[in-house]
Amino acid sequence: MRRIYMDYTATTPVDKRVVEAMMPYFGGAFGNASSIHSFGREAKSALEDSREKIAGLIGARPSELYFTSGGTESDNSAIAGIAAKYSGKDRKHLVVSSVEHHAVLHAAKSLESSGFSVAFLNVDSHGFISPDELRSALTKESFLVSIIHANNEIGTIQNLSALAAIAHENGSLFHTDAVQSFGKTKFSVTETGVDLASFTAHKIYGPKGIGALYIKRGIDFEPMFHGGSQERNRRPGTESVPLAAGYAAAAELAVKELDGEHERLTALNALMRRRIEAEVRGALFNSPEVGSVPHILSVSIDSREVEIDGEALIINMDLEGIAVTSGSACSSGSLQPSHVIKALGRDDETTMATVRFSIGRLTTEDEVKTAMDVFAKVVGKIGKRKKLSSAVS
Ligand SMILES: Cc1ncc(COP(=O)(O)O)c(C=O)c1O
Repeated sequence: MRRIYMDYTATTPVDKRVVEAMMPYFGGAFGNASSIHSFGREAKSALEDSREKIAGLIGARPSELYFTSGGTESDNSAIAGIAAKYSGKDRKHLVVSSVEHHAVLHAAKSLESSGFSVAFLNVDSHGFISPDELRSALTKESFLVSIIHANNEIGTIQNLSALAAIAHENGSLFHTDAVQSFGKTKFSVTETGVDLASFTAHKIYGPKGIGALYIKRGIDFEPMFHGGSQERNRRPGTESVPLAAGYAAAAELAVKELDGEHERLTALNALMRRRIEAEVRGALFNSPEVGSVPHILSVSIDSREVEIDGEALIINMDLEGIAVTSGSACSSGSLQPSHVIKALGRDDETTMATVRFSIGRLTTEDEVKTAMDVFAKVVGKIGKRKKLSSAVS
């Protein structure tokens, strides 16, 4: 059976050019970047070269970029590291959006048990946060705002510069999770004015297990781990030079190919939208048509029109060879309604009946057409139309 991968938001295959860039550092140039002999210096130089390349692509200075194990570590470190330095007796309030990735949401919630209070910002029906919502959530006790740039379930892009400016007016620092935006849409720390930003390599055709945290110069930060003095005392542990080299290569390619890829994926996304609109009863788009990253299209089946089991929907798509996920987080094998789709105002049943199509560098038009044929077929097969009396026009 032909298998079609439509889950590029979860992860991407490592680009062959990225594998090539990593190879020298597994064998020949394998030294520890902290050693002072020639092997160490060779590794150190490759590490700093990678840092310089990535920093340049996001508008940062190399000294402001720290390698981590990925987006989860960067998000957690940002929240905990800033809380440790900038909170105080009268400053124990932070603001996050209700559509954050769990790496931010759970990190913020974990602070609640240590006496912090967290405000969760509401979003509109397409996931946008209004500046007024942020203004009214901030208090004189707020020390940090964390808002995701491009949402990983629906793709919505927030207006970071407006939101960061409001946080700053209030004396708060601003962190963004840019895991799904860097390399997919334009992102610059200077243009957005953020103080901290989280990244990961495996969403941009780089290796798993490496990411980065940008911390603006002058910002104090408490490291998450204790150990050696690597990464300017902010992230101890022997750095992975091959992963860093791969990450830099992936980042350079993503930015170099961004315009062409953005245009191609936008056209494929529009094709999916048109086909679903025309062929799938009860389809409700969660992703906004304007203001989202083109690699994500999230659609729910309206429970008022069609009764459908969300888990069966994903399983049946997979049985037909289409690898997609729902908007739901899968914990211990049981599907939970996604906090992101619920935040848009959807009921539980509709929330569960969500499919996130996510496309990427290897996706072809032919694959998209096949996936749309299968989606219409599966919804038609396992969905039960509701009686007209309860249906919506
Ligand atoms: C928006 C967002 N933040 C954070 C993460 C976590 O990144 P990682 O898998 O590198 O830990 C992900 C991954 O799904 C994500 O999509």
